[in-house]
Amino acid sequence: MQPQQPGYSSSRAYLELLSDLPWQKASKEHELDLRAAQERLDNDHYGLVKVKQRIIEYLAVRKLKPDARGPVLCFVGPPGVGKTSLASSIAAALDRKFVRISLGGVKDEADIRGHRRTYIGSMPGRLIDGLKKVAVCNPVMLLDEIDKTGSDVRGDPASALLEVLDPEQNKTFNDHYLNVPFDLSKVIFVATANRAQPIPPPLLDRMEVIELPGYTPEEKLKIAMRHLIPRVLDQHGLSSEFLQIPKAMVQLVIQRYTREAGVRSLERNLAALARAAAVRVAEQEQVVPLSKGVEGLSTPLLENRLVDSAEVEMEVIPMGVNNSDISNTFRITSPLVVDEAMVEKVLGVISV
Ligand SMILES: Nc1ncnc2c1ncn2[C@@H]1O[C@H](COP(=O)(O)OP(=O)(O)O)[C@@H](O)[C@H]1O
Ligand SMILES: [Mg+2]
Repeated sequence: MQPQQPGYSSSRAYLELLSDLPWQKASKEHELDLRAAQERLDNDHYGLVKVKQRIIEYLAVRKLKPDARGPVLCFVGPPGVGKTSLASSIAAALDRKFVRISLGGVKDEADIRGHRRTYIGSMPGRLIDGLKKVAVCNPVMLLDEIDKTGSDVRGDPASALLEVLDPEQNKTFNDHYLNVPFDLSKVIFVATANRAQPIPPPLLDRMEVIELPGYTPEEKLKIAMRHLIPRVLDQHGLSSEFLQIPKAMVQLVIQRYTREAGVRSLERNLAALARAAAVRVAEQEQVVPLSKGVEGLSTPLLENRLVDSAEVEMEVIPMGVNNSDISNTFRITSPLVVDEAMVEKVLGVISV
């Protein structure tokens, strides 16, 4: 086929999809170590004892009977309680790849199942697209926000999903674009929803609902201290050497600045504090000399700053000055400790 011929690029895209799809390619399946899986879940998530126990039971059944037609786990709860991140922990515990299919706002069956190739600009559905991206046929696939799918004149996505979750039918999943059956039976499906009620009953029937009701202020505090703060610091190139957020300040943020069952806006507020701190820390040190003295101190912040500011700093260093003299100008300042004034400056004053 010549590139000038009509239909060349769409045929090419189709053939590329055919060759890219993981028809057989699978991650190696290890014998599951339940204790390691439990450890993994505990490391990633604070609390949620019953939920984690149910996940472990689910994994144990899979281990004893790998082809068991178990129900699909569906985490149900308000935003920010850890539904999505639990699903990715399951993938990590199983040593499988993870792919998230966002179903929020999907109203068209073609989003799930693709358009027929006779349409101009036709594409495969989100499932096939996700499988192409992870490039293995046995990932953990998260059907995220499954309650947010609606239906309208263009078909019912729920009935397509029903086929996906039915072990009898998903061996030969039919994507309209692909037009050859694809075997989904090796995929481990997990779903999430904010509420169970809008999920169509036949679909709900295939799932086991696990409720995550939300956290108490004490639980939020523990989650923040153990999980959110270390992660937020890391994301901003900081560490506790540079910034400390005391418990009392986290409590203040929880009480005054968040009103939620989960921890999402708590995490956002902590990130705002970290950003403000990053600016202050970066301002404090004007000269970071490129000398041997710095090499030993490899905190992420320093590395980033050396990369960012290398050119500028070269100009600042005067000619002829001995490198070892300059290295003395470098010091790690004492950590910035977040106080109430800083919280108010960054997050705004809220009268109580
Ligand atoms: N129990 C928990 N322990 C540690 N981190 C948590 C916990 N619950 C939620 N998080 C964190 O809160 C954030 C929001 O969680 P997410 O999974 O996106 O919530 P959801 O999908 O329920 O809306 C994530 O960064 C997640 O890791
Ligand atoms: Mg989510």
